[in-house]
Amino acid sequence: MAMLRTIFWVLVVAVLAAFTAANWQPVEVRIWDGLLLETRLPALVIAAFLLGLVPTWLLYRATRWRLQRRITTLETQLNVKAAPSLTSTSLDAASTENTRSYLALDLPRLDAALALAEKVKGHVGGLKLGLEFFCAHGHHGVHEVAKVGLPIFLDLKLHDIPNTVAGAMQSIHVLEPAIVTVHASGGRAMMEDAKAAAGEHCKVVAVTVLTSLDDADMPTIGVAGTAHDQALRLADLAQEAGLDGIVCSGHEVGEIHKRWKNGFFVVPGLRPADGKLGDQKRAVTPRAARDAGASVLVIGRPISRADDPVAAARAIEGTL
Ligand code: C5P
Repeated sequence: MAMLRTIFWVLVVAVLAAFTAANWQPVEVRIWDGLLLETRLPALVIAAFLLGLVPTWLLYRATRWRLQRRITTLETQLNVKAAPSLTSTSLDAASTENTRSYLALDLPRLDAALALAEKVKGHVGGLKLGLEFFCAHGHHGVHEVAKVGLPIFLDLKLHDIPNTVAGAMQSIHVLEPAIVTVHASGGRAMMEDAKAAAGEHCKVVAVTVLTSLDDADMPTIGVAGTAHDQALRLADLAQEAGLDGIVCSGHEVGEIHKRWKNGFFVVPGLRPADGKLGDQKRAVTPRAARDAGASVLVIGRPISRADDPVAAARAIEGTL
């Protein structure tokens, strides 16, 4: 764009210079009865050009100013800015190149989730709110957690027809999440529409294969091959659909990172070396995931179910 603008102005100056050189003869202009102005033709043309340019520029600025006022009025009427604005924290934080840990607040009670977030906020880089939290507390819950001051990751794993997923994305747009998830198995059109509806500051990432599934589960859900192959296939599809990145296990993130250099990779299913697996089957340590190229480390129960969540969060932070 800047290149085109430069070419345009170089052409304008060249045409004016050529015209000036070709018409450098004096002319007389009658301004009023008896008042004659002796000048040169190119000077007249340049004066006319500038006289036209100034009002056009003023009109353009006035139109822009009116449009901006209209947007501000609409935002106030729709209450779009009623939430504590996450823009400055969420967007800067989510776009950083450094790996960042998000605490999964998978707790049914809002007060307990808020208390945990306040306790460990100095040791994590963001807060992940999933289905359990969102189904119980909705937009109000997200507003409350946003007051903690960390970026919000809405892990809603949307999976439906493109029109419905795009509508859901529009409905959560006002919450200004830094990251939102959809399921890659919803297909290319669904992912494209989700991304288009999300707004430019929200990263949309696609879940490939849940970390609670392994190779033995693949045939039971109609997938031929390994969980690893399926994660790679769906990562390629997400990239083709124009998403920002994917969610995968620490086992695949290294290989996917090699194929998708500037992708944004969310890795859940993380356990400290001696941690309990629970329902996770493709788990790695937070350090291994980071070293393999994860952009975001998702950590839930190793912190939220620990006897001392702050000590657990600090210990994990110390391994990174
Ligand atoms: O407690 P734990 O650390 O296992 O929590 C992992 C979190 O990451 C959960 O909130 C879960 O919903 C989410 N998640 C996952 N596997 C995926 C995508 C998200 O475990 N593939």
